[in-house]
Amino acid sequence: MIEVNALSKHYGTFTAVRTLSFQVGPGEVLGLVGPNGAGKTTTLRCLAGIIPPSSGTLRIAGYDLATEAIAAKRTLAFFPDEPRLFDYLTVRQHLSFVARVYGVRHHEAIAQPLLEEFEIATHADRLPGELSRGMKQKLAIACGLLHGPRVLFFDEPLTGLDPLGIRRMKKSIISRAQAGASIVLSSHLLHLLEEVCTHVLILKRGEKIADGTLAAVAARFSHGERHVNLEEIFLRATEETPQ
Ligand SMILES: Nc1ncnc2c1ncn2[C@@H]1O[C@H](COP(=O)(O)OP(=O)(O)O)[C@@H](O)[C@H]1O
Ligand SMILES: [Mg+2]
Repeated sequence: MIEVNALSKHYGTFTAVRTLSFQVGPGEVLGLVGPNGAGKTTTLRCLAGIIPPSSGTLRIAGYDLATEAIAAKRTLAFFPDEPRLFDYLTVRQHLSFVARVYGVRHHEAIAQPLLEEFEIATHADRLPGELSRGMKQKLAIACGLLHGPRVLFFDEPLTGLDPLGIRRMKKSIISRAQAGASIVLSSHLLHLLEEVCTHVLILKRGEKIADGTLAAVAARFSHGERHVNLEEIFLRATEETPQ
C-alpha cells in the first residue's frame, strides 16, 4: 500500500511537485505520466526515501517514511531510469552483495530464479562492462527484487529494452501485482502502460491534473467518443488543462 498525502517538493525557489495526493493499493499498478519535467522522477525519489519531501506525508506499507524510514525501505524497491551498478562486481556478486545489505538469508534460492526470469543466468560471471544496457537494467531489477519488496517504484523501466525484453518486463510487473504488490510505473510508452496499469495519474508542472482507473480518466477526456487511447488522453489532458 502506498499513501501519498499533500506531497510537495521544492528545489530552492522552484516547486517541482505541488500538494500531490494519491494511493496505490495491493495489486494495483499506477501509471505515472506527464511531459518531461512534470515531476515524475522527483515524486518517485521522494516515495523511495532518496530525497526528503519539502512537505506532506508518505506511508509505505503503513510505515511513515519520515519517522520509520528503515522499516519503510525494507518493504520497497526503487528502479531508477539509469541502472547503477558496481564496476568490479560480477552479476552473481551483485546479488550476493545486495542480499547481505538487506539481510536476505539463503539468497541463492531466490537469486537463481530471478537470474533466469530476467535472462541473465548465462552471464552470471560477467562484469557490468561486459553487459548490454538492457542486461544491466535487468540486473538492477533482479537486485531490487531480491528482498521481496511489496511496493515497487519503476522510473522508465522499459527504456533501453528490446521488444522481447519489454514484453518480459511487462509480464514480471503484472505477476508482481497479481501477487499483491503495489506498483508505480512512470513511462512515456503509453501503449504499454495501457496493458500493464490498472490506474493512471497525469502530472503537469508538478500538479495532478487527472487520476483514476484508465476507464475513468478516459471517460473524462473522451468527449463522448467510444474508444480513446491513453496517448490521446495524455495529449488532451496536458493541452486542455489551463496553466
Ligand atoms: N536536483 C534538482 N535541482 C533542481 N531542480 C531539479 C532537480 N531535479 C529536478 N529538478 C527540476 O524539477 C522538475 C521536475 O523534474 P523531474 O522530476 O525529473 O521530472 P520528470 O521526471 O517528470 O521529467 C524539472 O523542471 C527539473 O528541472
Ligand atoms: Mg524523469
